[in-house]
Parts: sequence; structure tokens; C-alpha cells
Amino acid sequence: MTPAARLSAAISVLERWLAGVPAEQALINWARGSRYAGSGDRAAVRDLVFDAIRCRRSFAALGGADTGRGLILGGLRAAGTDPAPLFTGIGHAPAPATEEAREPTDLEALDCPEWLAPRLRDALGPDFAGVMEALRHRAPVFLRVARGSVPEVRVMLAEDGVTTEPHPLAERALKVTGGARKVQTSRAWQDGVVELQDAASQAVVEALPLEDGQTVLDFCAGGGGKSLAMAARARLRISAHDADPNRMRDLPVRAARAGVRIARVSTADALDDRYDLVLADVPCTGSGSWRRSPEGKWSLTEARLEELLAIQAEILDVVAPLSRDWLAYVTCSLLHEENGAQIDAFLSRHEGWERMREIRLTPLDGGDGFHLSLLRRIPVNR
Ligand SMILES: C[S@@+](CC[C@H](N)C(=O)[O-])C[C@H]1O[C@@H](n2cnc3c(N)ncnc32)[C@H](O)[C@@H]1O
Repeated sequence: MTPAARLSAAISVLERWLAGVPAEQALINWARGSRYAGSGDRAAVRDLVFDAIRCRRSFAALGGADTGRGLILGGLRAAGTDPAPLFTGIGHAPAPATEEAREPTDLEALDCPEWLAPRLRDALGPDFAGVMEALRHRAPVFLRVARGSVPEVRVMLAEDGVTTEPHPLAERALKVTGGARKVQTSRAWQDGVVELQDAASQAVVEALPLEDGQTVLDFCAGGGGKSLAMAARARLRISAHDADPNRMRDLPVRAARAGVRIARVSTADALDDRYDLVLADVPCTGSGSWRRSPEGKWSLTEARLEELLAIQAEILDVVAPLSRDWLAYVTCSLLHEENGAQIDAFLSRHEGWERMREIRLTPLDGGDGFHLSLLRRIPVNR
């Protein structure tokens, strides 16, 4: 495909997204109907689409319209590329651009949803603009070294064309600096020596007080990324649970690849036991990972935020009695309501707990935005 034809394809995918189809689905549909598109074309169209979603407000202003055409045109103008040689209307190229650029407002330039700006400013303080700017760009790819020494694994990856560098957020985190598309065909990946996991997510697990012999419940396990990272840290008995057990379907294969055992437990089983540490990696707005999943930035509503806050409070109330000692509350949100304020409210509802530690990470630290509140039962005789 010519560069201009790729732009036309991205415009059509974005139109479908703006009409309510998830971007991944719209990309799959486009690829199925475009057998002439090679893997390079598909990757390029995908990048154009996700870059435009991340930067929707600023690109719409620069492209003169919040439409597929407007977003792609605005993206070219933002990059300082003259659209005229590409928007020619010849062959598969988009029709010549007549849309006028408009200067974005401050919030548009940061691609920040208007209604969320006061909340994000409140939570991020002086980092507000820096964090919003970081969320306009693609997320780095991070690996967790699951087995072997970090230097040896770096050599193993390099032999398959994947270059990496260690990252200060977590001891076993590697940032991929080249060959990211080759990770899943590399020997290190296929042998379970590395896992894909954001560095901040790894940092959160590193901060947990894990010791050999403990029993651990990962109450919102999802795909089990944090269960696997915990299993790599100490000899633990880990039970993984999720309200949607289907999300854990790949966990046995992933655990086998990593050479660890993780039991999947139903709600009834999970609620029937007590654990040394309960991890609640709750559903949240995902605002800390909007680089990776930018659609959430525009689909989040005040009503959905309220709903998430209620779900988080309910999960905390359900898991607290399951813990003998530690309760770790985690979100990948930047909002104070979902983080510190949620824990303040929990502590005012439940006696006998104290907050031992709070970690707040934003994309300015290198990985996704994450929050960890580590709570501990106050000993009865104190
Ligand atoms: C942030 S994700 C977990 C990610 C996972 N821990 C990881 O590291 O890959 C939140 C998970 O909570 C689950 N969930 C939602 N409501 C729940 C509930 N009431 N009880 C348990 N899990 C719930 C969702 O299905 C989702 O998989």
C-alpha cells in the first residue's frame, strides 16, 4: 500500500471507531476486507489509528474536525508534514484537504477530557501537564525476567533481535529498545524466560511483603500477570480468583511456562479461606494506562466513574475479612477518588487496619500510572 492509501485505511477505521466500534475490532474488520494489506501495512495503519485516538482532541483541532479525516489530517499537521502531497484524491489517496486548522486550547493540546481536568489536576498537582503530555505518546514495551539472570536474558533476547535495557522501576524489568515486534517469536519468550509486564506493575509486586510459605489470594487476577510475578518472588501458595473466570483461562499455560503453580479458585472457595496476604488489583478507570489503552480516555463518563468507585469499595469490604495480615489495594488509575480517598473511606468503615505504605507512580516514572496502598491488621494486643 502507498503511504496515502494507508492514511485512507486509517480514516475508515477511525470512522468506525467514532461510530462506536472498538478500535481493535474495526482494525480486524478492515484487515479481513483488505487481503492486499501486508503485515507492514497493518502495523502502520494500526499505529496511525492508535496515535490519533491518543491525541484525539489536539488532532481534531488541527485537522478542523473530529472525524476520521480530521484526525489523520491533524496528525500530519502536528508532525509538521504537509498533507498536500498525500491528500491528492488520486488512486486510493484521501481527497484534497480543505479543512482549516484551529489552534488547540491548552486542554486540547494536552488531549485531556474537559470534565476530568479538575480531578486530574487535583491528583497530579504540578505533574498534571507532564503526565497528560506523556499519555499522548506510545507506551514503551517492558518485559519481566521470570527466570535466569537479567544480563544473561538480555543476551538471549539480543540473539533474536530484541534489544533491551534494565529499568530502575523494578529489579527484573527490561525496557525493549529495539525489535519489539520480535518478542513473541523469541526463544526467551517461548521458553517462558520473559513475560510481557509493565515496569510499574512489576514495581507494585516488588513492594509487597512476600515471604516463603505465605498463602496469598489474588482476588482480581485477570490474566494472572501479578500472580505470576508474585510466584517468581517467593515460595508462596497462590490462589487466583476473578469474578469473570474466563479471564484466567490462559493462566495454567502461563504458569506452566514459568514453572510455577497457581490454583484457580471460584468465589465460594476464595471466600471460604483466610490468607496471609490478599491482593485486590481492582477494576478502575485505567487512567494510568491510557498510553496503552487510549480509548478509555474518551469513553469514561462520570456515571461509569461512580460505578467503579462503588465496585472498588465493595471489593475492599469483601476481601478485608479474608486477610489474616496484609491487604494490598492496587489500581492503574491516577485519580485520587480511586486511590487514596478510596482507602481513607475504607479505613473509616473498618476498624483494626492501618496504612503501612502508599506508592504512587505516574508515566513520568517510566511505566504506567499505578497506585498501591498496603494495609495491615493492627495486632489485637497493641
Ligand atoms: C485490573 S484487572 C486485573 C488485572 C490483573 N491483576 C493483572 O495483573 O493482569 C481487574 C479484574 O477484576 C475483575 N473483577 C471485576 N469485578 C470483580 C469482583 N467483584 N470480584 C473479583 N474480580 C472482579 C475483572 O474481571 C478484571 O479481570
